[in-house]
Amino acid sequence: MPTPKRITVLISGSGSNLQAVIDAIDSGQINGRIERVICNQPEAYGLTRAANAGIDTVLINHRDYDGRESFDAALIEAIDASTADLIVLAGFMRIFTDDFVIRYQDRMLNVHPSLLPKYKGLNTHQRAIEDGESHGGCSVHFVTPELDGGPVVLQGAVAIEPSDDASALQQRVHRMEHIIYPKVVEWFCAERLSWSAGQILFDGEPLPAGGFTQQSL
Ligand code: GRF
Repeated sequence: MPTPKRITVLISGSGSNLQAVIDAIDSGQINGRIERVICNQPEAYGLTRAANAGIDTVLINHRDYDGRESFDAALIEAIDASTADLIVLAGFMRIFTDDFVIRYQDRMLNVHPSLLPKYKGLNTHQRAIEDGESHGGCSVHFVTPELDGGPVVLQGAVAIEPSDDASALQQRVHRMEHIIYPKVVEWFCAERLSWSAGQILFDGEPLPAGGFTQQSL
């Protein structure tokens, strides 16, 4: 078995995606080890999840910094203090400077609650329902300086029911996130997925445009 990849997870909230990754490591699906969890919200429940799993936590409260540059510098210090082969953004609700993103661009993943490129930004479920979409969903993508605009690796679609409000849809999409995010982390840690020399490779071949869909796996 190759050396487990060292993962750093950034959270701001409940941390259910963090939990999904912890569980997938425990079950042997992911050949990785979470070195530390970095959080910007003191009251985030994800900090408790990390502590329960025996993972080091670092609190970097953005309110203690006078701007994005100094906040990102503190993040960089915390990330680089323990080598990170992979950075997993799991509900981290801060926008980074371009310099921060470019530093980690080939090894930083995010999950976004929409079928990108549709519905970047916030209130994704409400907007999808209002537009009469047949499906919502979620996307795991590499992070680039364009917000929610990095290359998509895997998407999971969820049918929108006539009775759905944003909260009902969000719950089903969240469950889909817990399937597809560990899957992509598994691929990265198994070196099936990489971003090298400007292109994303999966099993040695360029990733299809728009990535994979969960239904096709
Ligand atoms: C998820 O909905 C994810 O798509 C978004 O933030 C939320 C994080 O949820 N980026 P959790 O903290 O992992 O439960």
